[in-house]
Amino acid sequence: MRICFVGAGYVGLVTGTCFADLGNDVICVDNNEEKINLLKNGGVPIYEPGLNEMIARNVGKNRLSFTTSITEGVEASDIIFIAVNTPPLPNGDADLSFVETVSKEIAQTMKTYKLIVEKSTVPVETGEWIKHTVQINNKHQVEFDVASNPEFLREGTAVHDIMNPDRIVIGVESARAEKILRELYTPFNAPIVMTDIKSAELIKHASNSFLATKISFINAVANICERTGADIIKVAEGMGYDTRISKSFLNAGAGFGGSCFPKDLAAFIHIAQKYGYDFKLLKEVENINNEQKKLVVTKVKKAVWILKDKKIGILGLAFKPNTDDMRRAPAIDVIEMLQSEGSVIKAFDPVAMDRAKQIFKNITFCKDPYEVAEGVDCLVIMTEWNEFKEIDLSLVKDKMANPIIIDGRNIYDPAKMKELGFVYHGIGR
Ligand code: UDX
Ligand code: UDX
Repeated sequence: MRICFVGAGYVGLVTGTCFADLGNDVICVDNNEEKINLLKNGGVPIYEPGLNEMIARNVGKNRLSFTTSITEGVEASDIIFIAVNTPPLPNGDADLSFVETVSKEIAQTMKTYKLIVEKSTVPVETGEWIKHTVQINNKHQVEFDVASNPEFLREGTAVHDIMNPDRIVIGVESARAEKILRELYTPFNAPIVMTDIKSAELIKHASNSFLATKISFINAVANICERTGADIIKVAEGMGYDTRISKSFLNAGAGFGGSCFPKDLAAFIHIAQKYGYDFKLLKEVENINNEQKKLVVTKVKKAVWILKDKKIGILGLAFKPNTDDMRRAPAIDVIEMLQSEGSVIKAFDPVAMDRAKQIFKNITFCKDPYEVAEGVDCLVIMTEWNEFKEIDLSLVKDKMANPIIIDGRNIYDPAKMKELGFVYHGIGR
């Protein structure tokens, strides 16, 4: 099938590449010239395991190409996915101005039937607005359909998630759109939830909000564990064997970040409000998440007393492992809080350092965890990269001014850390 992705970011580029790998002809459009030039020259603008090889393979087979021109993308395809970013506005609402702009541009250039699919995470009712926008800008008066097909990929495992979905959600208004999307998704061999557009839009917001609720719930329980002397790892394990609860998304820690959960929660709360429902549960999910980041700083403070002029080492900056994405990373809040009290920060992340350098001022970026450890009063683990699990902790201890570790992701065993001579505090243990 001939497919266009408008927006070649974490979602559009990876999803487009996976569709190409299944034999479709895919053209990725992005208005960021630098990004498109890089892709045209064989580079890849983001870090996502397995992506580079897949892009190279499909470009080599002439199934995947890149352009800054929407016209070119629209002419070369029958299905157009909108995958531009939908960042949060100050009031929590999603900023849909990019979605509107590209809908208009698509409408003005299309000369034959097109199926326009919203892939970006958007509030319920966006499909209707896209339809309206296309209708009033439909210069050549061609037939079209609008559909919703939310993504459920996790950064860091995006290629795997797209190729092995738990389910495919499709919201449509016509049999023609349903047929096309069913055919596109046949090779995935996954259950298809076929529904109306509004329900599909809600499935996405409700799913992300539910996962975020699970995380805040387990973080709240972790706080009880700390006060009572129970161990959150065991509590989560004991809960997780219940198939109704499941083990995933029960890792207590420094809170969730990323481009999705914080933004989607805020947008869901906002749209609920707009329709007259006060979604208090989700407001508390946000509150608990903010408290978790403060908790990390409180733990550092309790361990080193005065924060001013203390050297604090941060291991991990990305919002989760296996990505270079720094959007809404909990490390940003924690570092800012420490700096505001006068701490001196050294940091290392295996792949997110380039992006981190654009965000942080007055931080010493180090070449590895050992350089971070050199002379610091406290080490804070903010991202659970595998390579931090394997470091030589005796060497780390020798290098530190004070052997204190605050583990915001519970990657070490408290008993072992004590044996090694560390003052060690995880979350909820
Ligand atoms: C996506 C979704 O679209 C968002 O709704 C979801 O909740 C999170 O994931 P993501 O792929 O992570 O966004 O965003 P980003 O990596 O910023 O990619 C968006 C791309 O769209 C960028 O490359 C940007 O240059 C491009 N863009 C934006 C356009 O091509 N045209 C525009 O008008 C605006
Ligand atoms: C999420 C959704 O999982 C995905 O389905 C959606 O389409 C996009 O948003 P992503 O943000 O890439 O994916 O990563 P995810 O693995 O969900 O982690 C989000 C945040 O939650 C990270 O900061 C992570 O550290 C945190 N998290 C996750 C926890 O704190 N505990 C957990 O148990 C799981």
